[in-house]
Amino acid sequence: MKCSETIKGNKVKQRLREVLDEIGTELQKERLRGKVADYIPPLAQVDPAKFGMAVMLHDGTLISAGDAAEKFSVQSISKVFALTLALGKRGDAIWHRVGREPSGDPFNSSILLELEKGIPRNPFINAGAIVIADILLSSHQPRETIGEIVRFVQSVSEDDDIFIDEFVARAEDHTGFNNAALANLLKAHKNLDNAPPHVLGVYHHQCALAMSCEQLARAGLFLSASGCNPLSGHRIISVERARRINALMMTCGHYDGSGDFAFRVGVPAKSGVGGGILAVVPGIASVAVWSPGLNQHGNSMLGTRALEMLCRQMNWSVFG
Ligand code: DON
Repeated sequence: MKCSETIKGNKVKQRLREVLDEIGTELQKERLRGKVADYIPPLAQVDPAKFGMAVMLHDGTLISAGDAAEKFSVQSISKVFALTLALGKRGDAIWHRVGREPSGDPFNSSILLELEKGIPRNPFINAGAIVIADILLSSHQPRETIGEIVRFVQSVSEDDDIFIDEFVARAEDHTGFNNAALANLLKAHKNLDNAPPHVLGVYHHQCALAMSCEQLARAGLFLSASGCNPLSGHRIISVERARRINALMMTCGHYDGSGDFAFRVGVPAKSGVGGGILAVVPGIASVAVWSPGLNQHGNSMLGTRALEMLCRQMNWSVFG
């Protein structure tokens, strides 16, 4: 299948501009903004009043609002890019080590991991993402693998100004005892090839990628365009692989809040505890939103609201 141009005309762009302005104005007034993540110390310092949103269409048009150009910690959104890279290296062999089912548990839970003998439910919960980091590490040095992840994200974003926030990465390396427990449990079940501290180093660094909504929307565009960069026509992954990654984002991208997110928003998306969400509207656009306050599932409270409003106003849904 070829990359195809799907968008659309000035009317859609004009409407999008109005809708983003409406969302920005309405959410600015909202006082109930959720709680900023504080278990990674630098994230506790982020201003909960921040709000950014960016939509990129397939012709490269970028429509943004609020703090859309400001960088934040993408955290678990990075799991989408790590999974894409791991699938590119190892293909379907990765599914022997990680499942494809929603867990119905919090992102950092170890309960099912113990019951299910070290096979994480999916690649987006922390345990699954740690296995993906192990696959990417293979026999390399952590530094090389971290560099490879950064270069991959820079290349899909066509933007060299994307880096890891070392301060955030080190803070999580020092305080990530729950992830250390998950990594050790995985190692005990022989589902890690490398030493847990090395795998955790890679995982915590990928989570500490700092990107703006505008950069993230650009980075996710290939997932909304059947695996192609719609601007260059260059294929990044196969159509089938893009569909499958989107399916996992839909079913597992918001952990034990995935059902509610699908119900309210209706498009595949991945959240992070930095308050970002990357959403994919297949055939149309890639959307990134950032509001640091989280709901009880660790997903951005106002980010979800913003996406709900956007998709309703634009009549975007994968459910018809
Ligand atoms: O491993 C962690 O706990 C964080 N680095 C990432 C978790 C996360 O972003 C969950 N998403 N909502």
